[in-house]
Amino acid sequence: MNPEKFNMIAPGILPEEHEVPITNFEREGRILITGGTEGIGRAIADEFLRRHNAVVICARNQEKLDSTKRDYVYGNSRLIAEKVDIGDRNMTKTFVQGAIEDLGGLDAVILNAATFDFKYKSSDLSEDEIRKEMFKVNEVGNVVVIREVRRELKETNGAIVFITTRFGVPQAKETVSVIDSESASAQEDIGNYIKNKKRIHEYLKDFIMDIKNEGIFVFSVIPGTVDTPANREMIAVGTPEISASKLKEREEGRERDSALVGRIIAKMTASRKKFNPEGQHYNLDIENGEVVEISNAVVEFEKNQTKRHILVGDVPYVGPDEGSLIARKWSHILEQMKL
Ligand SMILES: NC(=O)c1ccc[n+]([C@@H]2O[C@H](COP(=O)([O-])OP(=O)(O)OC[C@H]3O[C@@H](n4cnc5c(N)ncnc54)[C@H](OP(=O)(O)O)[C@@H]3O)[C@@H](O)[C@H]2O)c1
Repeated sequence: MNPEKFNMIAPGILPEEHEVPITNFEREGRILITGGTEGIGRAIADEFLRRHNAVVICARNQEKLDSTKRDYVYGNSRLIAEKVDIGDRNMTKTFVQGAIEDLGGLDAVILNAATFDFKYKSSDLSEDEIRKEMFKVNEVGNVVVIREVRRELKETNGAIVFITTRFGVPQAKETVSVIDSESASAQEDIGNYIKNKKRIHEYLKDFIMDIKNEGIFVFSVIPGTVDTPANREMIAVGTPEISASKLKEREEGRERDSALVGRIIAKMTASRKKFNPEGQHYNLDIENGEVVEISNAVVEFEKNQTKRHILVGDVPYVGPDEGSLIARKWSHILEQMKL
């Protein structure tokens, strides 16, 4: 591990762990996350750092990378945050190689960063150019990362976790959408995006069948609708139909909190187990190649765990920076709970 490059930070106050220690690399996991300054990727990074793993993230916006680094105040956490566009093949290759070197190996990679059709609404690009741009980020980017991590993950019997969508695979049940993915409005807002996700899904299916990849554990996650900057942008700029259906999900309480979703994904990555609603534990083995849909039961479970932490007076973060994202997040939760 290259200590020089890590964002070594002042010790913060860590929450007591009330939950079973389910991570198999607790305190020493080495995690690479594409896109980690906002939304789901950020929440996954947050959870891994809270559990003392070393994490490398990337994103394109330097200011958000800097503020992410400033927000990590947990004692002994280790974070590297680099400016990388995963749509740039060479930059991505160099980034992944550097990350493995800095981490001194790799235990898991989270394929999280993605772009969406609705992001190009005000661009001058032609439909074909947009399709190519999205292909570069959502497909080539992921494949470049996978190729670069493969040797290392074989060494460590590590994991590849792909964050996908309920539209990318047919079996979604609890996160099933009111949106018809074949409709003109869905095609306009997320048509290429769905195709990109489906193709990576197929790529990963082939990947696990290849004997050369034996030892690498792969699974995908359907997070459902999550309150993230991307989801908010979709509501703002999406077609009236898509925007209305997203707002309806929000009204019905079906929009999930990104911190909870990130926590669930981090736990599943570390333990390779998913939540068992019967016993209220993460004790069901995830199969290699499985697509795991985040259920309402596990979201409820994590929500209750969070409440429990607060109710026992167990404040997860108290630090000098009142304006930090983590402090804001918790004051928001407290406010919502009227505490
Ligand atoms: N939110 C949902 O409801 C939902 C539902 C199903 C699946 N998902 C999946 O969850 C994943 C994360 O979605 P999200 O909603 O959290 O997205 P988000 O709010 O847009 O956050 C995306 C993160 O990735 C980074 N990123 C985007 N493009 C990048 C690029 N080309 N290179 C490097 N980093 C890049 C962003 O930073 P920069 O912009 O600074 O680069 C940001 O940190 C995606 O794979 C998405 O398909 C989300």
